[in-house]
Amino acid sequence: TYVVTDACIRCKYMDCVEVCPVDCFYEGENMLVINPSECIDCGVCEPECPAEAILPDTENGLEKWLELNTTMSANWPNITRKRDAPADADSFKDVPDKYDTLFS
Ligand code: SF4
Ligand code: F3S
Repeated sequence: TYVVTDACIRCKYMDCVEVCPVDCFYEGENMLVINPSECIDCGVCEPECPAEAILPDTENGLEKWLELNTTMSANWPNITRKRDAPADADSFKDVPDKYDTLFS
């Protein structure tokens, strides 16, 4: 599966939802996640994200993000249409370790 990681937080560009053939993105207030049990591993979303937030879970150190994508996709609503990114999205694009701001 692919997972959405830290870089999405407060950027939320939503280009990813436009290309997913199985509509497996779910929307929280400050980021999107992928439902790992629905993702068919096609990989088309990965290069579409301007923040480079989408990665295959086979990369090292992504256990925390796999867990978050699994948990949150069960709680957040499905999203299938791109909307405008937050007005301040670009100011968060190169900020590392944004997890602490995910739920604030
Ligand atoms: Fe959707 Fe494919 Fe991305 Fe999985 S890898 S979330 S199926 S676009
Ligand atoms: Fe997030 Fe990138 Fe999609 S910033 S909303 S994973 S296009």
